[in-house]
Amino acid sequence: MRRNSCMVNIRAGYLFPEIAKRRREYAAAHPDAKIISLGIGNTTEAILPHINAGLVEGARRLGTQEGYSGYQDEGLQELREKIAAVFYGGKFSAQEIFISDGAKCDIGRLQLLFGAGTPVAVQDPSYPVYVDGSVLIGAADGASGSAGIYDRIVYLPCTVENVFFPELSRIPSKGLVYFCSPNNPTGAVANREQLAALVKAAISKSSIIIFDAAYSEYIRDPALPKSIYEIEGARECAIEVNSFSKSAGFTGVRLGWSIVPAEMKYESGESVNADWHRICSTVFNGASNIAQAGGLAALDSEGQKEIRSLTGFYLGNAQLIRNALQSLGIFCVGGDNSPYIWAQFPGRDSWEVFSEILEKCQVITTPGAGFGPAGGGFIRFSAFGHRADIEEACQRLRITFQ
Ligand SMILES: Cc1ncc(COP(=O)(O)O)c(C=O)c1O
Repeated sequence: MRRNSCMVNIRAGYLFPEIAKRRREYAAAHPDAKIISLGIGNTTEAILPHINAGLVEGARRLGTQEGYSGYQDEGLQELREKIAAVFYGGKFSAQEIFISDGAKCDIGRLQLLFGAGTPVAVQDPSYPVYVDGSVLIGAADGASGSAGIYDRIVYLPCTVENVFFPELSRIPSKGLVYFCSPNNPTGAVANREQLAALVKAAISKSSIIIFDAAYSEYIRDPALPKSIYEIEGARECAIEVNSFSKSAGFTGVRLGWSIVPAEMKYESGESVNADWHRICSTVFNGASNIAQAGGLAALDSEGQKEIRSLTGFYLGNAQLIRNALQSLGIFCVGGDNSPYIWAQFPGRDSWEVFSEILEKCQVITTPGAGFGPAGGGFIRFSAFGHRADIEEACQRLRITFQ
């Protein structure tokens, strides 16, 4: 059979499997090395007791006739109402909140809403699924780009010069704008004025923002918005995705949500929310009921305390990494309100820096170039790790680079 032309268009391997391959190769060549990963954004700490009890109870109920449940389509009504109350001041109805198996899966499915011809803009650098998912759906068909850079995708550079917030005039008309805050990989968090400018730009171009708030629970500065819906006008032009992965440690449990406001309409006047219901019920059969029981526990007051404690732990790691890098005179941002530190190695190829850090410190990082062209010369350090490993990695960096 002929290969799907969209697959042909995927130029580079997915970033994290490529890093995993290089790690395996290094480990095979150096069997005694104790490799520490500050690379992939995978959580490492045990789920805290109250939230875990919610998961256990969810599993227990399935073994009873009264507590058994099967398919739950867009998710438990109670969970949707609780998400509306806890995160959005009750401003959304349950029909506008869709429970999912995670933000990444939602981003992939959202691409089905708009189809192949949709113009796409991304922050550069950005979380790879925005670009790769767009390519899979055909948004880059016939692209002549190389090394994972596509000429039909608009890259909005986020650089030291613009303090990691992009210039918005190049947002395409009637297109999608992927925007992530707190940002993966730069750790930058957009302030209220910046998000207001983004919403204004999207409305003026009749475009839709896909706002990825997967790290919102890492925001500690009360002046910074945790949701795009804190900005007036966003309900008309923004879809938000979020997740329990990085807040409650559900990376392997799988639970997230998306919001498609009722007032969001296509140019034909038809409802985007209605189409999202249609897509979710066609290619998705709902999140695990055990995960949803855990999600309910995560949203009560005890669960919220545990989320603050877990995110606080990773933010503590982030501070240690940032301090270590700054003590070496390396310019870096992020880590205050996000679990990522974005460190600059001016004039260097980021895969080369990745290899140097791996060889000299046995520490895995993520090369900035893997997140887009503007990521060249940067390395992303992830704060997800056990405290002792983070301390050891910082010590190795200090000894090697001072
Ligand atoms: C920006 C961003 N969005 C979404 C995800 C994926 O979240 P989930 O585990 O809910 O699929 C990640 C995971 O690293 C991420 O960095």
